[in-house]
Amino acid sequence: MRRMLWAAALPMSLWSALPVLAAPVPASAAVAEAPGELTVLHWWTSTSERAAANHVAARLAEQGLRWVDSAVAGGGGGPAVKVLNERILRRMAPKVAQLNGQSMNEWADMGLLLELDAVAQRKGWARTLFPQVLSQLSVREHIVAAPLGIHRINNLYLNLAVFRQHGIEPPTDWAGLTRAAARLRSAGVTPVAFSDEPWQVATVFEALLLGEAGPQLYRRMMVAQEWQAFEDPALERAFRRLRQWRSLSLPAGGAAGGAAERPWTELVADFAAGRAALLITGDWARGELGALGLEGGRDFDCRAVPGTAAAHLFSIDTLAMLAGDRSAQPEQEKMAELLASATVQLGYNRIKGSVPVRKDVPVDELDPCAQQSYRLFANPATPRVPSLVHRMAFGEVGKNALIETVHRFALDPAQTPAAAQRRLLGLLRALPSKPARSAAP
Ligand code: GAL
Repeated sequence: MRRMLWAAALPMSLWSALPVLAAPVPASAAVAEAPGELTVLHWWTSTSERAAANHVAARLAEQGLRWVDSAVAGGGGGPAVKVLNERILRRMAPKVAQLNGQSMNEWADMGLLLELDAVAQRKGWARTLFPQVLSQLSVREHIVAAPLGIHRINNLYLNLAVFRQHGIEPPTDWAGLTRAAARLRSAGVTPVAFSDEPWQVATVFEALLLGEAGPQLYRRMMVAQEWQAFEDPALERAFRRLRQWRSLSLPAGGAAGGAAERPWTELVADFAAGRAALLITGDWARGELGALGLEGGRDFDCRAVPGTAAAHLFSIDTLAMLAGDRSAQPEQEKMAELLASATVQLGYNRIKGSVPVRKDVPVDELDPCAQQSYRLFANPATPRVPSLVHRMAFGEVGKNALIETVHRFALDPAQTPAAAQRRLLGLLRALPSKPARSAAP
């Protein structure tokens, strides 16, 4: 791997933090961990996320490894990634960090991530893991993280009890959804659960964009990052849909009170209690619904966002091992090995709402929604497209700029969809072209 002088190679996103480097950091500032202890920095703090992390920690403990928890609250990981940056800069890096997709590039380039090629080789990851997973774990032909699970983003959840109670047939397309929303409203039910938190707005948006653009154009936008693709009218349509969808979460008749920046767990709680009937989000919500005692197929339906049924908009959770002085390498390698094992994969993903990263695990025991996601992802004919918001496509800075643009549009009723499209287009033209990676996702 190319090694660079790390300060010279400092990512753009971190220049603002440079002053802290002026003062030498005493060696004692490093996080002290006893042998066998691994501090894990992550953002899994909801009930189901915690339970999934605890499950992994228990499996590791059986093998003599201690997961020392360092969770930073904040869905989508924005705050956790900032904390990680700061800790790395102050040479207080944890041994293990949730570091997904493109956000690993910069750290890997600087030689900060342990290469796990030997583990991958020993455990036959090239054979057992899905190619998209392997690609997300690799930077310049080296494996730099261990995989946990595959989330699907383009889900539409319907609360079946609400639909039954009001005698409404669960809709399958936009026209049906609009009609159902109007009936729900007149029955006093808020049709849609929606949050104005930037990452949540953009998570809904990317699923809507996939529906409007189709997988091919979506790929030109998010994978090839061709600015010309952002001129397509599908983008304007997606912005229009976003506005319509958000409006279905607001009080009827233009009454005061907006969607507000609510944590995703509150949306899931509203949906579970029947205070809202529809929800578009990643399937971490299904993990949380499970923790609340709801069952897919019985209490809620999981469908694809209209127009996206054939496609899998994915995000893959991974844990990177920070190299440090390499003293923990044997434990880190052992952990990586365990994370990808069939037993941990099945146990963890069943709780988390995601699906296993391996091609060779029996998934018949998973719930119907998980089986559907897994089978779709496993089918080579399925268009699998990477999530922008969950770091599968753009680097951290570019991703945040795109999210901010989408968020501004959602919050500003005076901004037209055409104006929002022009802003995104301008952004794409200004961003540097995509850095080389080992393989396209
Ligand atoms: C995603 C992450 C998921 C889930 C979600 C909500 O970025 O991949 O594992 O935790 O955020 O926080």
